[in-house]
Amino acid sequence: MKHLLATEGLDPDLATAVLDTADGLKRTLLGREVRKLPTLRGRTVITMFYENSTRTRVSFEIAGKWMSADVVNVSAGGSSVGKGESLRDTALTLSAAGADCVIVRHPASGAAQRLAGWLEGTGTSVVNAGDGMHEHPTQALLDAATLRERLGGIKDRRVAIVGDVLHSRVARSNIHLLSALGAEVVLIAPPTLLPAGAGALPVTVSHDLDAELPALDAVMMLRVQAERMHGGFFPSAREYSIAYGLNEARTRLLPEHAVVLHPGPMLRGMEISSAVADAPSAAITEQVRNGVHVRMAVLYHLLAGEEDAK
Ligand code: CP
Repeated sequence: MKHLLATEGLDPDLATAVLDTADGLKRTLLGREVRKLPTLRGRTVITMFYENSTRTRVSFEIAGKWMSADVVNVSAGGSSVGKGESLRDTALTLSAAGADCVIVRHPASGAAQRLAGWLEGTGTSVVNAGDGMHEHPTQALLDAATLRERLGGIKDRRVAIVGDVLHSRVARSNIHLLSALGAEVVLIAPPTLLPAGAGALPVTVSHDLDAELPALDAVMMLRVQAERMHGGFFPSAREYSIAYGLNEARTRLLPEHAVVLHPGPMLRGMEISSAVADAPSAAITEQVRNGVHVRMAVLYHLLAGEEDAK
Protein backbone atom coordinates (compact mmCIF):
# COMPACT_ATOMS: atom_id res chain seq x y z
CA MET A 1 0.00 0.00 0.00
CA LYS A 2 1.46 3.37 -1.05
CA HIS A 3 -1.23 5.76 0.24
CA LEU A 4 -4.59 5.48 2.02
CA LEU A 5 -6.81 8.11 0.43
CA ALA A 6 -10.28 6.56 0.32
CA THR A 7 -12.24 3.37 0.88
CA GLU A 8 -13.98 3.76 -2.49
CA GLY A 9 -12.07 1.33 -4.69
CA LEU A 10 -10.05 -0.10 -1.78
CA ASP A 11 -9.37 -3.80 -2.40
CA PRO A 12 -11.51 -5.70 0.17
CA ASP A 13 -8.66 -8.21 0.65
CA LEU A 14 -6.29 -5.36 1.54
CA ALA A 15 -8.90 -3.85 3.90
CA THR A 16 -9.29 -7.27 5.56
CA ALA A 17 -5.50 -7.60 5.86
CA VAL A 18 -5.35 -4.20 7.62
CA LEU A 19 -8.17 -5.27 9.98
CA ASP A 20 -6.40 -8.58 10.70
CA THR A 21 -3.15 -6.70 11.42
CA ALA A 22 -5.01 -4.34 13.77
CA ASP A 23 -6.54 -7.31 15.55
CA GLY A 24 -3.11 -8.96 15.90
CA LEU A 25 -1.55 -5.75 17.24
CA LYS A 26 -4.37 -5.36 19.75
CA ARG A 27 -3.84 -8.91 21.02
CA THR A 28 -0.06 -8.44 21.16
CA LEU A 29 -0.34 -5.26 23.25
CA LEU A 30 -3.19 -6.47 25.49
CA GLY A 31 -2.20 -6.32 29.17
CA ARG A 32 1.34 -5.09 28.44
CA GLU A 33 2.69 -2.44 30.77
CA VAL A 34 4.91 -0.96 28.07
CA ARG A 35 2.99 -0.63 24.82
CA LYS A 36 5.90 -0.13 22.46
CA LEU A 37 6.96 -2.14 19.41
CA PRO A 38 10.18 -1.44 17.48
CA THR A 39 8.54 -1.89 14.05
CA LEU A 40 8.76 1.69 12.73
CA ARG A 41 11.98 2.79 14.44
CA GLY A 42 13.71 5.39 12.25
CA ARG A 43 10.50 6.29 10.37
CA THR A 44 9.05 9.80 10.55
CA VAL A 45 5.31 10.43 10.57
CA ILE A 46 3.92 13.97 10.30
CA THR A 47 0.31 14.87 11.09
CA MET A 48 -0.94 18.00 9.37
CA PHE A 49 -4.40 19.08 10.50
CA TYR A 50 -6.18 22.04 8.89
CA GLU A 51 -9.39 21.20 10.79
CA ASN A 52 -10.04 20.44 14.45
CA SER A 53 -9.70 16.88 15.69
CA THR A 54 -9.40 15.01 18.97
CA ARG A 55 -9.78 11.29 18.17
CA THR A 56 -8.05 11.03 14.79
CA ARG A 57 -5.08 13.20 15.60
CA VAL A 58 -4.41 11.76 19.05
CA SER A 59 -4.83 8.15 17.95
CA PHE A 60 -2.47 8.60 14.95
CA GLU A 61 0.09 10.14 17.29
CA ILE A 62 -0.26 7.30 19.80
CA ALA A 63 -0.22 4.72 16.98
CA GLY A 64 3.04 6.09 15.61
CA LYS A 65 4.63 6.30 19.05
CA TRP A 66 3.57 2.77 20.03
CA MET A 67 5.38 1.57 16.89
CA SER A 68 8.50 3.66 17.74
CA ALA A 69 8.13 6.08 14.81
CA ASP A 70 9.12 9.72 15.31
CA VAL A 71 5.84 11.65 15.22
CA VAL A 72 5.67 15.38 14.51
CA ASN A 73 2.40 17.34 14.70
CA VAL A 74 1.87 20.38 12.49
CA SER A 75 -1.22 22.54 12.92
CA ALA A 76 -2.31 25.08 10.34
CA GLY A 77 -2.46 27.78 13.03
CA GLY A 78 1.09 27.25 14.27
CA SER A 79 2.82 26.74 10.91
CA SER A 80 3.71 28.88 7.90
CA VAL A 81 0.23 28.10 6.53
CA GLY A 82 -0.75 31.11 8.67
CA LYS A 83 1.62 33.23 6.53
CA GLY A 84 -0.11 32.10 3.35
CA GLU A 85 2.00 29.08 2.35
CA SER A 86 0.08 26.77 0.03
CA LEU A 87 -0.86 23.16 0.78
CA ARG A 88 1.48 22.04 -2.03
CA ASP A 89 4.49 23.96 -0.69
CA THR A 90 3.75 22.82 2.86
CA ALA A 91 3.59 19.18 1.76
CA LEU A 92 6.80 19.41 -0.29
CA THR A 93 8.51 21.07 2.70
CA LEU A 94 7.44 18.28 5.07
CA SER A 95 8.57 15.63 2.59
CA ALA A 96 11.94 17.36 2.09
CA ALA A 97 12.33 17.54 5.88
CA GLY A 98 12.17 13.75 6.00
CA ALA A 99 8.52 12.70 6.34
CA ASP A 100 7.96 9.05 5.42
CA CYS A 101 4.23 9.61 5.88
CA VAL A 102 2.03 12.71 5.97
CA ILE A 103 -1.37 12.35 7.60
CA VAL A 104 -3.62 15.17 6.45
CA ARG A 105 -7.01 16.53 7.47
CA HIS A 106 -8.30 19.35 5.29
CA PRO A 107 -11.66 21.09 4.74
CA ALA A 108 -11.47 20.67 0.94
CA SER A 109 -12.77 17.44 -0.58
CA GLY A 110 -9.98 15.89 -2.66
CA ALA A 111 -7.12 17.57 -0.72
CA ALA A 112 -5.45 14.27 0.24
CA GLN A 113 -5.56 13.04 -3.38
CA ARG A 114 -3.96 16.30 -4.58
CA LEU A 115 -1.26 15.97 -1.93
CA ALA A 116 -0.46 12.42 -3.03
CA GLY A 117 -0.11 13.71 -6.60
CA TRP A 118 2.27 16.50 -5.57
CA LEU A 119 4.37 14.03 -3.55
CA GLU A 120 4.62 11.50 -6.39
CA GLY A 121 8.19 10.24 -6.66
CA THR A 122 9.26 11.55 -3.24
CA GLY A 123 8.69 8.27 -1.36
CA THR A 124 6.36 10.01 1.12
CA SER A 125 3.05 8.25 1.79
CA VAL A 126 -0.20 10.15 2.37
CA VAL A 127 -3.08 9.18 4.66
CA ASN A 128 -6.40 10.95 4.38
CA ALA A 129 -7.55 11.83 7.92
CA GLY A 130 -10.73 13.46 6.57
CA ASP A 131 -11.14 15.69 3.49
CA GLY A 132 -14.19 17.94 3.44
CA MET A 133 -17.38 15.99 2.79
CA HIS A 134 -15.50 13.31 0.82
CA GLU A 135 -13.88 10.50 2.85
CA HIS A 136 -12.43 9.49 6.23
CA PRO A 137 -11.03 6.01 5.48
CA THR A 138 -9.41 5.20 8.84
CA GLN A 139 -12.72 5.99 10.61
CA ALA A 140 -14.46 3.42 8.40
CA LEU A 141 -11.71 0.86 9.08
CA LEU A 142 -12.00 1.33 12.85
CA ASP A 143 -15.79 1.08 12.58
CA ALA A 144 -15.38 -2.17 10.64
CA ALA A 145 -12.93 -3.48 13.27
CA THR A 146 -15.49 -2.72 16.00
CA LEU A 147 -18.31 -4.39 14.08
CA ARG A 148 -16.17 -7.48 13.50
CA GLU A 149 -15.47 -7.72 17.22
CA ARG A 150 -19.06 -7.14 18.33
CA LEU A 151 -20.91 -9.11 15.63
CA GLY A 152 -18.30 -11.74 14.75
CA GLY A 153 -18.17 -10.57 11.13
CA ILE A 154 -19.48 -8.06 8.63
CA LYS A 155 -20.70 -10.13 5.69
CA ASP A 156 -24.51 -10.13 5.39
CA ARG A 157 -24.92 -7.92 8.48
CA ARG A 158 -27.47 -5.12 8.07
CA VAL A 159 -25.95 -1.79 9.11
CA ALA A 160 -27.86 1.50 9.17
CA ILE A 161 -26.12 4.85 8.81
CA VAL A 162 -28.46 7.44 10.29
CA GLY A 163 -28.73 11.20 10.05
CA ASP A 164 -26.70 13.84 8.25
CA VAL A 165 -25.41 11.63 5.43
CA LEU A 166 -25.17 14.59 3.05
CA HIS A 167 -22.28 16.29 4.85
CA SER A 168 -20.62 13.14 6.24
CA ARG A 169 -17.25 11.83 5.04
CA VAL A 170 -17.65 9.12 7.69
CA ALA A 171 -20.83 7.94 5.98
CA ARG A 172 -19.23 7.92 2.52
CA SER A 173 -16.21 5.89 3.68
CA ASN A 174 -18.41 3.45 5.59
CA ILE A 175 -20.80 2.97 2.67
CA HIS A 176 -17.94 1.91 0.40
CA LEU A 177 -16.01 -0.18 2.91
CA LEU A 178 -18.92 -1.99 4.56
CA SER A 179 -20.58 -2.82 1.24
CA ALA A 180 -17.23 -4.07 -0.17
CA LEU A 181 -16.93 -6.32 2.89
CA GLY A 182 -20.38 -7.78 2.22
CA ALA A 183 -22.64 -5.82 4.59
CA GLU A 184 -26.07 -4.57 3.60
CA VAL A 185 -26.01 -0.80 4.18
CA VAL A 186 -29.19 1.22 4.79
CA LEU A 187 -29.13 5.01 4.80
CA ILE A 188 -31.80 6.51 7.07
CA ALA A 189 -32.20 10.27 6.81
CA PRO A 190 -34.59 13.07 5.93
CA PRO A 191 -34.55 13.73 2.15
CA THR A 192 -32.82 17.09 2.81
CA LEU A 193 -29.80 15.35 4.39
CA LEU A 194 -29.20 12.72 1.69
CA PRO A 195 -26.74 13.29 -1.18
CA ALA A 196 -28.27 13.80 -4.63
CA GLY A 197 -26.58 10.65 -5.97
CA ALA A 198 -27.66 8.35 -3.12
CA GLY A 199 -29.52 6.12 -5.60
CA ALA A 200 -26.23 5.24 -7.33
CA LEU A 201 -24.56 4.11 -4.08
CA PRO A 202 -24.53 0.43 -2.98
CA VAL A 203 -27.23 1.10 -0.35
CA THR A 204 -30.94 1.11 0.28
CA VAL A 205 -32.53 4.34 1.46
CA SER A 206 -35.22 4.91 4.09
CA HIS A 207 -36.72 7.94 5.81
CA ASP A 208 -38.33 5.93 8.64
CA LEU A 209 -35.95 5.04 11.48
CA ASP A 210 -38.56 3.25 13.63
CA ALA A 211 -39.54 0.95 10.77
CA GLU A 212 -35.92 -0.09 10.11
CA LEU A 213 -34.68 -0.65 13.68
CA PRO A 214 -36.08 -4.19 14.28
CA ALA A 215 -34.11 -5.64 11.32
CA LEU A 216 -30.70 -4.08 12.05
CA ASP A 217 -27.48 -5.64 13.36
CA ALA A 218 -25.88 -2.24 13.87
CA VAL A 219 -26.88 1.39 13.84
CA MET A 220 -24.32 4.12 13.21
CA MET A 221 -25.50 7.56 14.32
CA LEU A 222 -23.89 10.52 12.56
CA ARG A 223 -23.10 13.91 14.02
CA VAL A 224 -25.25 16.72 12.63
CA GLN A 225 -22.63 18.91 10.92
CA ALA A 226 -24.00 22.41 11.46
CA GLU A 227 -20.64 23.90 10.38
CA ARG A 228 -21.25 22.64 6.82
CA MET A 229 -24.91 23.83 6.64
CA HIS A 230 -24.44 27.32 5.33
CA GLY A 231 -28.05 27.63 4.19
CA GLY A 232 -29.53 26.69 7.61
CA PHE A 233 -30.80 23.41 8.98
CA PHE A 234 -33.98 21.77 7.73
CA PRO A 235 -35.69 20.03 9.43
CA SER A 236 -35.18 22.06 12.62
CA ALA A 237 -32.97 20.62 15.35
CA ARG A 238 -36.05 19.69 17.39
CA GLU A 239 -37.83 18.01 14.45
CA TYR A 240 -34.62 16.18 13.56
CA SER A 241 -34.14 14.89 17.07
CA ILE A 242 -37.76 13.68 17.30
CA ALA A 243 -37.63 11.83 13.96
CA TYR A 244 -34.00 10.64 13.81
CA GLY A 245 -32.53 10.85 17.33
CA LEU A 246 -31.67 7.53 18.96
CA ASN A 247 -33.25 7.43 22.42
CA GLU A 248 -33.96 4.62 24.90
CA ALA A 249 -37.47 3.97 23.57
CA ARG A 250 -36.05 3.50 20.06
CA THR A 251 -33.24 1.17 21.16
CA ARG A 252 -35.94 -1.16 22.54
CA LEU A 253 -36.98 -1.71 18.89
CA LEU A 254 -33.49 -3.03 18.04
CA PRO A 255 -32.65 -6.75 18.25
CA GLU A 256 -30.85 -7.59 21.51
CA HIS A 257 -27.51 -8.24 19.78
CA ALA A 258 -27.50 -4.95 17.84
CA VAL A 259 -24.62 -2.56 18.36
CA VAL A 260 -24.79 1.24 18.44
CA LEU A 261 -21.90 3.21 16.90
CA HIS A 262 -21.07 6.90 16.72
CA PRO A 263 -17.82 8.29 15.23
CA GLY A 264 -17.76 11.23 17.65
CA PRO A 265 -17.78 13.96 18.59
CA MET A 266 -21.36 13.33 19.79
CA LEU A 267 -24.08 15.91 20.19
CA ARG A 268 -25.79 14.30 23.17
CA GLY A 269 -29.53 15.00 23.16
CA MET A 270 -29.50 15.71 19.42
CA GLU A 271 -28.65 12.59 17.39
CA ILE A 272 -28.17 10.32 20.43
CA SER A 273 -29.36 10.46 24.04
CA SER A 274 -26.89 10.16 26.91
CA ALA A 275 -28.62 7.00 28.15
CA VAL A 276 -28.07 5.31 24.77
CA ALA A 277 -24.50 6.58 24.34
CA ASP A 278 -23.51 5.18 27.75
CA ALA A 279 -25.42 1.86 27.51
CA PRO A 280 -23.63 -1.51 27.05
CA SER A 281 -25.01 -1.83 23.50
CA ALA A 282 -23.01 1.27 22.50
CA ALA A 283 -19.45 0.62 21.31
CA ILE A 284 -18.34 4.24 21.17
CA THR A 285 -15.32 3.96 23.47
CA GLU A 286 -14.36 0.68 21.79
CA GLN A 287 -14.37 2.54 18.47
CA VAL A 288 -11.85 5.02 19.87
CA ARG A 289 -9.68 2.22 21.33
CA ASN A 290 -9.78 0.29 18.06
CA GLY A 291 -8.84 3.49 16.26
CA VAL A 292 -5.35 3.31 17.73
CA HIS A 293 -4.80 -0.31 16.62
CA VAL A 294 -6.29 0.31 13.17
CA ARG A 295 -4.04 3.36 12.67
CA MET A 296 -1.04 1.32 13.83
CA ALA A 297 -2.00 -1.27 11.21
CA VAL A 298 -2.33 1.38 8.49
CA LEU A 299 1.12 2.80 9.31
CA TYR A 300 2.50 -0.74 9.35
CA HIS A 301 1.12 -1.57 5.89
CA LEU A 302 2.38 1.77 4.53
CA LEU A 303 5.80 1.94 6.11
CA ALA A 304 6.98 -1.49 7.28
CA GLY A 305 7.74 -2.70 3.75
CA GLU A 306 5.79 -5.03 1.47
CA GLU A 307 7.37 -8.24 2.73
CA ASP A 308 6.81 -7.38 6.42
CA ALA A 309 3.25 -6.30 5.79
CA LYS A 310 2.12 -9.61 4.26
N1 CP B 1 -14.37 10.83 14.41
C1 CP B 1 -13.46 11.81 14.24
O1 CP B 1 -12.88 11.99 13.16
O2 CP B 1 -13.22 12.55 15.36
P1 CP B 1 -12.23 13.79 15.44
O3 CP B 1 -12.80 14.88 14.59
O4 CP B 1 -12.18 14.14 16.91
O5 CP B 1 -10.89 13.34 14.92
